[in-house]
Amino acid sequence: MAEIVVALDFPSPEEAFALAERLGARVRCYKVGLELFTRGGPDIVRELRSRGREVFLDLKIHDIPNTVAGAASAAAALGAAYLTVHALGGARMVGAARAAVEGAPTRILAVTVLTSLAADDLGKIPGTGPKAPAEEVLRLAALAMESGAHGVVASGGEVRAIRAQAGADALIVAPGIRLPGDAQDDQRRVFGPAEAVLAGADLLVVGRPITRAVDPSAAFDRIEAAMRPEMTEA
Ligand code: C5P
Repeated sequence: MAEIVVALDFPSPEEAFALAERLGARVRCYKVGLELFTRGGPDIVRELRSRGREVFLDLKIHDIPNTVAGAASAAAALGAAYLTVHALGGARMVGAARAAVEGAPTRILAVTVLTSLAADDLGKIPGTGPKAPAEEVLRLAALAMESGAHGVVASGGEVRAIRAQAGADALIVAPGIRLPGDAQDDQRRVFGPAEAVLAGADLLVVGRPITRAVDPSAAFDRIEAAMRPEMTEA
């Protein structure tokens, strides 16, 4: 069953933990990204783990295979449930990340094309052609899955095609989730929770609609209810 991962995009560990405290037991997994990790380091992961939470370590790693293997092994030792790497690092790099977490429960998720990149940006990046981003996303998702990734991060509009291509076992993560009436913030294309789940997403990454809500717990519960429309009917 699909679940919500709350993105702890805060400039300080104190703010992140205060939110986690408010949300309580309803949240099983938190996403820790580059900002929070760079400020708080591995202790952030250890603290969340000690509170019984899973950690989605969103470091979007991209380096030579040996370095990536070392980082992936360190993330596994920390107890991260998920770790992101860039598919653009290539087959050997993704494969090295996967090999490094073998035997640990850590899942390697590949980021394909950053949603901040449009077609004209793509034409200027080595290894990608002047293609439509959607085409490049599918190509990189296939490369990552064939190289050992457990899944991919995809914007809502790509989920269905990736699910069709990658099969039932791939883990598909969708960010950019909003309820009708939510602020879009800097997201350019947003998707409703039910829409993302019906398209085949396993994990819905949600940040600001929960973290900036006046009542974060109520916001979480609303999104969760919207993921399962069959449970709210009657
Ligand atoms: O606040 P919001 O719900 O937009 O946060 C979404 C989270 O997912 C952020 O941490 C953001 O970095 C991440 N993300 C995204 N779009 C992508 C990949 C990751 O918004 N394509």
